[in-house]
Amino acid sequence: MNDPRRSELIGVASAAAAERAAGDAQCIAFRVNGRERCISVNPGSRLSEVLREQLQLTGTKVGCDAGDCGACTVLLDSRQVCACLTAVGQVAGRDVLTVEGLAVDDELSALQRAFLVHGAAQCGACTPGMLMAAAELLRATPAPVEQEVLDALGGVLCRCTGYRKIVEEVMAVVGAEFDETRPIVGQAVGRRIAKLDSAGKVAGSELYGADDYPAGALWLRVVRSPHAHAQFRIGDLGPLLLRYPDLVAVLTAKDVPENSFGIFSEVKDQPVLAPGLVRFRGEAVLALVGNRAEVMSIAESELPIEWSLRSPVTDLDAALSSTEPLHRFAPDNVLVRGRVQKGDVDAALETAAFVAEGTFTTSYVEHAYIEPEAGYAQRVHGAAGQDRVRIFSCTQTPYMDREEIARILQLRADQVRIVPSAIGGGFGGKLDIAIQPLLALAAWKLNRPVRGIYSRPESMCSTTKRHPARMQARFGCDAQGRLVAADFLGDFNTGAYASWGNTVANRVPIHACGPYSVPNVRAHTRAVYTNGPIAGAFRGFGVPQSTVVHEALLDELAAKAGIDPLELRWINAIRVGQATATGQVMRASCGLAQCLERLRPAWREAQTLAAGFNAREHARYGSGKGRRRGAGVAAMWYGIGNTVIANPSTMRVGLRRNGRVVLYNGAVDIGQGSSTILPQICADALGLPVSLFDQVMGDTDLTADAGKTSASRQTFVSGNAARLAGADLRGKLLALLGAPSDAQLGIEGAQLQAHCQGGRWHIELDRMAVDENADVALGEGSFDPPTTPLDRNGQGAPYATYGFAAQVAEVEVDLELGTVKVVNFHAAHDVGRAINPTQVEGQIHGGIAQGLGMALMEEYHSGRTDNLHDYLIPTVGDVPPITTHLVEDPEPLGPYGAKGVGEPALIATAPAILNAIHHAAGVRISHLPATPERVRRAILENSR
Ligand code: FES
Ligand code: FES
Repeated sequence: MNDPRRSELIGVASAAAAERAAGDAQCIAFRVNGRERCISVNPGSRLSEVLREQLQLTGTKVGCDAGDCGACTVLLDSRQVCACLTAVGQVAGRDVLTVEGLAVDDELSALQRAFLVHGAAQCGACTPGMLMAAAELLRATPAPVEQEVLDALGGVLCRCTGYRKIVEEVMAVVGAEFDETRPIVGQAVGRRIAKLDSAGKVAGSELYGADDYPAGALWLRVVRSPHAHAQFRIGDLGPLLLRYPDLVAVLTAKDVPENSFGIFSEVKDQPVLAPGLVRFRGEAVLALVGNRAEVMSIAESELPIEWSLRSPVTDLDAALSSTEPLHRFAPDNVLVRGRVQKGDVDAALETAAFVAEGTFTTSYVEHAYIEPEAGYAQRVHGAAGQDRVRIFSCTQTPYMDREEIARILQLRADQVRIVPSAIGGGFGGKLDIAIQPLLALAAWKLNRPVRGIYSRPESMCSTTKRHPARMQARFGCDAQGRLVAADFLGDFNTGAYASWGNTVANRVPIHACGPYSVPNVRAHTRAVYTNGPIAGAFRGFGVPQSTVVHEALLDELAAKAGIDPLELRWINAIRVGQATATGQVMRASCGLAQCLERLRPAWREAQTLAAGFNAREHARYGSGKGRRRGAGVAAMWYGIGNTVIANPSTMRVGLRRNGRVVLYNGAVDIGQGSSTILPQICADALGLPVSLFDQVMGDTDLTADAGKTSASRQTFVSGNAARLAGADLRGKLLALLGAPSDAQLGIEGAQLQAHCQGGRWHIELDRMAVDENADVALGEGSFDPPTTPLDRNGQGAPYATYGFAAQVAEVEVDLELGTVKVVNFHAAHDVGRAINPTQVEGQIHGGIAQGLGMALMEEYHSGRTDNLHDYLIPTVGDVPPITTHLVEDPEPLGPYGAKGVGEPALIATAPAILNAIHHAAGVRISHLPATPERVRRAILENSR
């Protein structure tokens, strides 16, 4: 464990020690993927480093450099090892197999193809490690049983998939036949098409932020504050630069043209490099740029930084009572207040038949994407005054990055080009800029390409988290269980800087009464500054926290009213024609009641199983001993897209002379599948097979602004844009052919064809003129969901549509240890229309795994859990079998009826598990996560 007040600078000590440990290079001979290699290298170097940097085998990923994540797993003499923990000297004379070596005769192996077909790769950052672990197993055990798969994959973490599709895939490789290359002709929507961007992920050829850089790129190392609150002074840097001739520059706040950034135009409160004051541990203080080995060898004691410590404001109460605000513009440390008010809550609670109330708190939760922030930037020369900066990096929001970096460097937006790398997970954490402005600043100032990769501790201490929350609520119902009022008060710790605090404070009140028809609602929130880590966007924008509250209180009301918990939710489920807390009347696609109906059989069976199990345990061990089984149900809703504010997306699609269709797709695929779903939608609107599609992804020079990949918006918003673009191109092609609107389009080589009962038409594409993108014709579509502003009481229509879900968790609680094992899970989601059921299920599985982590184990403490050893996320052994039910209550505004599922997948999970714990052990855990210690303590207190 690290002491948060230790004197050394974050990230410096370990890197410097590693460099100092380096000795003289030797020639090490070994075989990689069957090929003899002889490398001149220090024998103590990490195998992962040698593979990636010297052999350019970047398929082997590095997620932690500490043996915790397994992303770097390779086979050494057919046994899986972590390449980051293996010294290259150890592999002399031995066989190393990496993901690049799995292909057979340049064709993907059966194992790799099975990953494609089963949707086992989402972001792909864990995929090489998973493949290698599975390869070891399948060589020894060609037809493994589930436990063997769980054991084999146990050392590799995945943050996206929820593991179940990977387990299914490994068990299904042998004897399976794959036809994933079969062309899909029409009707792509609804098909289980393999992810179109997955081939590179399973082959190891996909380029993530750390995988590509120009020759001669300098290395960027960020020096960060070890203190949560301090002033500092940087002394004379001259001696340091003299001592290290390959240290090219030390950048400080003075070097940043506009030293502030932030998500919202009215709150640019975060500096790129702190100007003499740090507000959280991990804040960037200065940047060292130069030769990598030299930059990393500089010891913290050599840096002329003098600190003057100040008392940090560590929690909500301290912040709200402090007379020393973190920021001058927020004298009470409140960033923003949110409010929704409808009806007369006090009167309704006064006359309610039953009232339930409680206080709940949640912790900082880390995104823990497997790929740390990485990339490079390069100054590109143009005509006088027209130089540009190109940034290749992982991001969820290329156009927002472009605006922000242009502002920081005081350039025009068109002088900044963002080229998104493949992204190894985001979940909201890569919506904020992180390494990008530092790379851009260094490259711009030094006129040299500059690359950088955050270490795992650096990524965890410096980037955003889920907001810790303190929430109080009272809910009331009548004697029949019908909700009459909901009263909610929530404070959300937004940390040192605003990030997405405004969004959280405004989204939560809208959702705080749950997906129910409640006539009287009062929901107030505050986002509060502290000297804690920055809290930002994380899958749900605060709604997962507030759902814990309403779903606990609904269970309490069900108990008081003597109504089954699932039935109480069904009674209250909001339906078409009813109004939300903001007074928005639901017009369509309101499928919560159907979700609950789909779960009814599993719910009843789970309760029966629990009763039998508990009777046996009680008979065997007696009261208060052994295990107890419980079932919990929870429901959720989620407004798709931005809250009220504009939310547009534009897509373009072109037809090339060679008969290929190119989708200019600015919607970054962070693993959720938009690079497959959007072509599916576009293909059907265009009337050509999706197998004809190629894509240009994310590049701000080549694609239109599709908005950010967040808020579950890409399927709904960009999906509509893709549909309109497809229809636009179809119209243009039919006009070129002179064919009627009902004609069927076709492509035969370079010939565009159309036919219908009225005739046949064709043109030769390779004789056509083309535009600047080499397209014969281009279609464009834009969509911005209709919303209305909220009035001072939060009344209005903040979203065009909502996702709904209900989930049932089955858990076993060890009464003496306090441990909780989730043994079974059922999820029913109203997604409007499942454009690609495999991708939708993958999102649901992944969301459930993250919700399970939030419920039971994830709790970030800066300085104590800045790694994937002390910060626990679910492993393959923690995620139970999951049964998914896709409810398709079509959204008339959605593309082919679709809504979104990214956030909804997670939101009901933690409350379902907490309700199951209550059912099993009779204790209500009100501070998340429900660690064994907290569960055990609650059981002891309950037994007194
Ligand atoms: S990078 Fe080797 S285990 Fe994480
Ligand atoms: S697919 Fe496993 S970490 Fe993203």
